[in-house]
Amino acid sequence: MASHLLLLGLLFSATFSFIFATDPSQLQDFCVADPNSEVFVNGVVCKDPKLVKADDFFFRGLNMMGNTYNDVGSNVTQVFVAQLAGLNTLGISMVRIDYAPLGINAPHTHPRATEILTVIEGRLLVGFVTSNPDNTLFTKVLEVGDVFVFPQGLIHFQANIDEHANAVAIAALSSQNPGVITIANAVFGSNPDIDANILAKAFQVDVDVVTKIQAKF
Ligand SMILES: *[C@@H]1O[C@H](CO)[C@@H](O)[C@H](O)[C@H]1NC(C)=O
Repeated sequence: MASHLLLLGLLFSATFSFIFATDPSQLQDFCVADPNSEVFVNGVVCKDPKLVKADDFFFRGLNMMGNTYNDVGSNVTQVFVAQLAGLNTLGISMVRIDYAPLGINAPHTHPRATEILTVIEGRLLVGFVTSNPDNTLFTKVLEVGDVFVFPQGLIHFQANIDEHANAVAIAALSSQNPGVITIANAVFGSNPDIDANILAKAFQVDVDVVTKIQAKF
């Protein structure tokens, strides 16, 4: 009897952790985000539907190249719920990613979204790594028109392998607010720092290597 209850409990928590890993589905046609509401809920409070306009479902500017003049040589233009209020509760969003020659979109993860990406200009080396204990790297070179999917939560990256040409990708994500955790920034640039001795042991390097990396973030 006790073991049945335990099993039920496990099933219950497994089901719910699955549900909460993605955006909840909407209960009305739309729930355009009201950024001025002071109420804090899971998502954003709905604007009065009578006041909703076509512009609430509209974003202009993904034709514009992001400025890639930075340390990694890439720029992500986000169209999340913060930029497009109509995305609220719809479980979807999109980005444009620009890459300078040899630019990278550094290894990162989206805690709340799977990402599907297509190349519209240039050529990209892409990849993601599976969870422990395998940590298998799945990688591929994408040409214009190719599509690749990065499963939810897994660490992934893209790199423009051309020395002379820019690259551009468009991607869709299965959350209105996917979240981004850039591994290098989160681990070496947290605020305040993670103790360098902890990172030295984790990365199996000397402490001064860690403090040198921390200084860059
Ligand atoms: C990305 O490009 C935009 C538009 O040019 C710019 O405002 C922003 O600072 C850039 N971000 C990074 C990280 O370089």
